Parts: sequence; C-alpha cells; structure tokens
Amino acid sequence: MPISENENDHSDTPIDLRSPSLADGAAMWRLTRDTGVLDLNSSYQYLLWCRDFSATSVVAVDADEHVLGFITAFLRPDDPSTLMVWQVGVDDAARGQGLASRMLDYLVTTTGAQTLETTVTDDNTASNRLFAALAQRHAAQHDITPLFTPAMYPDGHDTEYLHRIGPLAPAADRQTSAPCSKNVVAQ
Ligand SMILES: CC(C)(COP(=O)(O)OP(=O)(O)OC[C@H]1O[C@@H](n2cnc3c(N)ncnc32)[C@H](O)[C@@H]1OP(=O)(O)O)[C@@H](O)C(=O)NCCC(=O)NCCS
Repeated sequence: MPISENENDHSDTPIDLRSPSLADGAAMWRLTRDTGVLDLNSSYQYLLWCRDFSATSVVAVDADEHVLGFITAFLRPDDPSTLMVWQVGVDDAARGQGLASRMLDYLVTTTGAQTLETTVTDDNTASNRLFAALAQRHAAQHDITPLFTPAMYPDGHDTEYLHRIGPLAPAADRQTSAPCSKNVVAQ
C-alpha cells in the first residue's frame, strides 16, 4: 500500500509542538498505555500534569490535533536550571523521524534549562540512544550513574540510571552530530 494511503503513517504530515492542555491528558495516557513499555500512571496523573506542569511539557500534534508524541518534564524545585524528563512517548507510526529529539530540543529552548536529567533502564536501547544523541547535538557532557536500584523498590523494578546531560547549547549552536564526553559509573 502506498504510504499516502496508510492513515497511520505520519511521515509526510506536518507535526506541531505545543504545551499540553487538559484536553490532551486522555490521549497522553492512551499513548503511554499503547507503548507497552512505559510505566502507565493513573489517568488522573496525566490530567494533573497537564494542569500543573504544562509549561515544562510538550505534545506533538498533527493537523487534526491528534497527539503523536509527548514529553512530561519539570524543572527541579531545588535546581530550577535542571529539566527532569519523566516520560517520552511517540506513537508507533511516528517513530524514527526525529520527533522525540525535536520535542527534547523544544523543551530545552522553551525552558532555558542548562542541564537535562532523565532516568533510563539498561534494556531500553531506543531511549539510551535518544539521550546519547541529545548529548551529541549539544556537544555536552553525559554522565550516567545508578539512581534507583531494585532494593529500593517494593516491586522488583529494574535499576533506573540517571542520565545527566549538560551544559546544553542554545539553538543556534546545536550540532547535527558531534563528539561528546560520556561517563558511565558502574553500580
Ligand atoms: C524512545 C522513543 C521516544 C524514540 O522516539 P523517536 O521519535 O522514534 O526518536 P528519534 O527519531 O528522535 O530518534 C532519536 C535517536 O534514537 C535512535 N532510536 C530511536 N528509536 C530507536 C530504536 N528502536 N533502536 C535504536 N535506536 C533508536 C535514533 O536513531 C536517533 O539516534 P541518532 O540521532 O543517533 O540516529 C520511541 O521509540 C518510544 O516512544 N518508545 C516507547 C516509549 C519509550 O521507551 N520511551 C522512552 C523512555 S521514557
């Protein structure tokens, strides 16, 4: 079937980025559920996030306002120059087109954050690559250390490694590909 006849293919569709509103909360919950790999929080949580952390989060929408991707993030209360990225989700049909990277750069620009943090499990190849690519674009230091280990969880969750990337570059100075310094500290 030609790409243009597949209504689930978004490779030739203009995709806009904007802050989420309350009306996006349900779609963000559904997208999270449909990834099959992200921790699914309560639907209430996504609504609350859209109310209270909209300015530090982003949704990617097509011309019909369908949510194709989102990032939930916040500026750390004890270090407001650091953007903590919680969840990144891109609809299956919109992956591999740079959308997650675009959303990350959008948030770095709109929040003015100097440093980005996130946590990733070892087995999440796509996510590990996504943040390594961000560090490369920004020619930034990329430190990886264990943050939440299985003994801390009540449910046997895998180790979440803290990725700390910075200093982040202003939009004009970002590179398509550049060497970065990556430090991985073993558990
Ligand atoms: C991870 C995810 C957000 C990536 O979205 P995306 O829009 O396809 O990512 P991008 O196109 O911006 O790709 C960013 C980088 O990751 C790489 N990448 C993306 N998906 C990949 C995969 N499945 N395997 C390996 N690398 C991958 C890309 O090649 C790119 O690296 P490059 O610039 O060096 O080529 C998406 O696959 C997803 O929603 N996965 C399920 C949820 C999840 O795991 N979220 C992350 C944890 S919070």
